[in-house]
Amino acid sequence: MHNVETIPATANEPIVNVNQWKGYFLDRDIPRRLKSGALVLDAGCADGKELRALQAQGFRTVGFDVDWASLQICRNQGFQTFLARAEEVPLRTASVDGLTFTVVMQLTDEARVLGEFARVLKPGGFAYLSYHGWGYYLKYLTSRTSNWRQRILGLRSLVNAWWYVVTGRRLPGFWGDSLYQSPSRLARYYRRYGLILEQKWEARTFAGTLVFIFHVVRTKQSVSATTKL
Ligand SMILES: C[S@@+](CC[C@H](N)C(=O)[O-])C[C@H]1O[C@@H](n2cnc3c(N)ncnc32)[C@H](O)[C@@H]1O
Repeated sequence: MHNVETIPATANEPIVNVNQWKGYFLDRDIPRRLKSGALVLDAGCADGKELRALQAQGFRTVGFDVDWASLQICRNQGFQTFLARAEEVPLRTASVDGLTFTVVMQLTDEARVLGEFARVLKPGGFAYLSYHGWGYYLKYLTSRTSNWRQRILGLRSLVNAWWYVVTGRRLPGFWGDSLYQSPSRLARYYRRYGLILEQKWEARTFAGTLVFIFHVVRTKQSVSATTKL
């Protein structure tokens, strides 16, 4: 059985501050696993913040997003990007050494996305995945400081996720626009697509519920392939 390195949430955790999004966890961890010059895909790259951080670390990058305006901002900064959905990535099989996917999964069809990531990663490649747990939306729903929009977001995300678990489909339109992730569901997809969970950080920062989930997963290593370029 593969041992997963688990790091609980603490304010002073050295690699990632799991209690905040600030800095995410990618900046300092990716260079531990991929060599400078490796090709890293940022899926859901928005305006290129992570592309910039990755390039500063010496990686080659490519990014995509569904939002055309964000891609224009990336292109104006010289980043190579394209318009695509994470459910259908128009890249060749086994074409990237690593990928980052930071707080986008709640907007997607999670099973299809992980299948695509397993496909485009080279053997032994790494994916850095940041998710919202159910506590993220429970907080919106129940916190005294939430406004009514946040409460409705919390409610629909919880309902949509439960619907997705039962039917394998998201609710239509507005009600289906976001869903939280759970470690057990993610573990099922990882098994299905041959992804190996290498490391995880969890932040149970709202009434003991899981608010943020950070996973590092890798594809199986073939005899000849190596992630170190
Ligand atoms: C919360 S933002 C996160 C952006 C960036 N990764 C970050 O950490 O700052 C979500 C991004 O995901 C993009 N997005 C939404 N659905 C997507 C999909 N199905 N495939 C790819 N990107 C998507 C949005 O356009 C948006 O730029």
